[in-house]
Amino acid sequence: MSQKIIVTGGAGYIGSHTCVALIEAGFEVVVFDNLSNSTTASLDGVARITGTRPEFINVDCADIAALRAAFAAHRDAVGVIHFAAYKAVGESVEKPLLYYRNNLGGLINVLDLMREFDVPNIVFSSSATVYGVPDTLPVTEETPLQPATSPYGATKVMGENIIRDAVRAYPQLRATLLRYFNPIGAHPSAEIGELPNGVPNNLMPYITQTAAGIRECLNIFGDDYDTPDGFCVRDYIDINDLARAHVAALRHMLNGADGVGTFNLGTGRGASVMELVNAFRTATGVDVPYKIAARRAGDVPAIWANADLAARVLNWHATVPLGETLASAWRWQKQVSGIK
Ligand code: NAD
Ligand code: UD1
Repeated sequence: MSQKIIVTGGAGYIGSHTCVALIEAGFEVVVFDNLSNSTTASLDGVARITGTRPEFINVDCADIAALRAAFAAHRDAVGVIHFAAYKAVGESVEKPLLYYRNNLGGLINVLDLMREFDVPNIVFSSSATVYGVPDTLPVTEETPLQPATSPYGATKVMGENIIRDAVRAYPQLRATLLRYFNPIGAHPSAEIGELPNGVPNNLMPYITQTAAGIRECLNIFGDDYDTPDGFCVRDYIDINDLARAHVAALRHMLNGADGVGTFNLGTGRGASVMELVNAFRTATGVDVPYKIAARRAGDVPAIWANADLAARVLNWHATVPLGETLASAWRWQKQVSGIK
């Protein structure tokens, strides 16, 4: 019999790709999502890719009574992957209490119900944002964390601490904290991908929307950073690689790893904004008009991961070449925009 995994936020960008990876690895998947930033169309996509539609429960993780009913129906689950959270950095500055209530309230409810129903394993979506502006590069899991620069970032630092304290106090719980660098791209089938609301804040959807003619021109934020070409550097990780890391993390815990594991998920390579724009042209043949704009407040000049720990302990590493990832992002955008 296959093992059941609860995926909160499973209808979202990273969640839907992780549903595919879990089903392909032989797990049974139940999605808990309130569709605040997604629709069930993503689960239709998962069904077309895998032949299996995950069971879906429309539930708000911040509502403990509703979440308890959902857990009660799936008390046989062996683990939870907790994606459900709000993620817009700017909005979190405007509406901090909304972010703390949703991201931390939801997490606390999930942990409480895992205890109540004896579901032992949790994988938590953390972020490279916990490193702030690092003193040394690449960052390892030992690199000191910096005070968060937004309420969103604070929910990730606090979320990690809440989980560490919970596992210390309740030894039946085990956790894996995954610090994502910059996930981009889509499933190669273009059945699922990233669907940002309104004007994208993030670089990759802004590039593909500009390539599709939805946006006139990409604004590149700053060309005078202390980096090799003056542009900000990030570690762009393929979404399918990222999804598979969640399966590796679960397997590691199911095989008996105790306590809390913390892992960077990146490629180990940095790329500048300009390198990404150029690689997009090479991969797709599409030119993205751009202009140089002012630096964006709060941007980190350069960050990329040392992901050796995940390779050593989880037996996971990024495999998809950047060109393939960029081609998948474009294929998805064309599908969404109805471009032949
Ligand atoms: P997403 O918005 O596409 O997915 C989040 C999903 O959670 C959505 O389907 C949304 O409807 C759901 N959700 C939100 N609040 C909920 C609640 N209270 N109850 C039930 N469902 C709820 O975002 P994503 O990019 O897939 O991100 C997933 C996780 O990864 C988030 O925790 C995010 O903070 C984290 N993360 C994302 C990135 C990134 O670049 N995308 C980077 C680092 C960390
Ligand atoms: C941002 C968030 C981070 C969050 C992550 C995923 C900030 C400061 N950081 O990371 O907390 O975890 O998204 O949601 O918001 N860029 C442009 N033009 C654009 C958009 C981006 O030049 O129109 C540049 C940025 O300056 C940056 C790079 O592209 O150098 C990547 O930006 P983005 O995709 O927003 O990711 P991060 O800033 O790394």
